[in-house]
Amino acid sequence: MMKLPSFSGKTVLVTGASSGIGRETALAFARAGAQVVIVARRAEALAEVEAQARKQHQARTLVVTADVTRPAQVRACFREAVAAFGGVDVVVNNAGILIPSRVEDIRGADLKAMLDVNLFGALYVMQQAAKVMRKQGHGNIVNVASLGGRRAFSPIGGYSATKFALIGLTEAFRMELAGTDIHASLVLPGVIETPMYERTAASDGELGALWPKALNMPADWVVAAIFAAVRFNLRELSVPPGAGEISKLLAVAPGIGDSLIRMMTGAARAASKLKRSRP
Ligand SMILES: NC(=O)c1ccc[n+]([C@@H]2O[C@H](COP(=O)([O-])OP(=O)(O)OC[C@H]3O[C@@H](n4cnc5c(N)ncnc54)[C@H](OP(=O)(O)O)[C@@H]3O)[C@@H](O)[C@H]2O)c1
Repeated sequence: MMKLPSFSGKTVLVTGASSGIGRETALAFARAGAQVVIVARRAEALAEVEAQARKQHQARTLVVTADVTRPAQVRACFREAVAAFGGVDVVVNNAGILIPSRVEDIRGADLKAMLDVNLFGALYVMQQAAKVMRKQGHGNIVNVASLGGRRAFSPIGGYSATKFALIGLTEAFRMELAGTDIHASLVLPGVIETPMYERTAASDGELGALWPKALNMPADWVVAAIFAAVRFNLRELSVPPGAGEISKLLAVAPGIGDSLIRMMTGAARAASKLKRSRP
């Protein structure tokens, strides 16, 4: 089990906490002694996360069912958190959705739905977080974007576009906060083993064939990056480390980037086949 720094007495609000990375993040902060505000839409799934946080880690928790695409619900969520715990020290802005499609076929409604959650939802959370944190004079906001927000590939072009946009918003936001004790970080995960991957691979043959499940990274790796971002006020971290920097270098020569991605996914498929064929 990962060793965690103490967050005793701190209040941490996690969006998208009913599943995957958000769920693991909320439970890890509970284990680190924080008061955890657990936010998503599905009340039943949130109740299960809360029960585990309380039973295993004796954490103080608050469940708020909210849709991040609704500004009024996001405002209410921060109001409830401040009323319950007196402030919010850390916000993990993690709620997100992925609807895979080739760019040629993407439906406008699907791209809009992704923009609504991944960009506008994240924006409403950032705005409310900044409001509370400016009042209390400190805080950390961690935006969970994606390596796909630094370099896109098919069939996740639409999703990547929303994460490129979120990265842009976060870079400017970070600069607006300069000189304060409020820090905005970007965490950029690669392919992580969560229900999002399972759903996406199952619904889209192209993606399932492109990236084998055996090579997925555990959600714990993202949790470790989130903890590091908060503890050391880091601007940007990728999972695995260094992958974000490689993506930036590849932007200088896009043709080489295309070839490398094709080679990498080909090698990944070959490695996965080899693993499966071993007795
Ligand atoms: N898994 C990966 O490979 C990967 C890679 C890079 C980046 N990411 C990013 O990491 C984040 C977490 O993804 P995950 O893999 O953990 O996915 P996941 O298991 O599908 O969890 C997504 C979470 O977002 C919540 N959510 C979705 N729409 C929402 C809305 N409108 N309002 C409030 N909450 C909402 C969901 O809860 P409800 O349905 O209960 O609302 C759920 O808790 C996302 O931002 C994703 O883009 C994931």
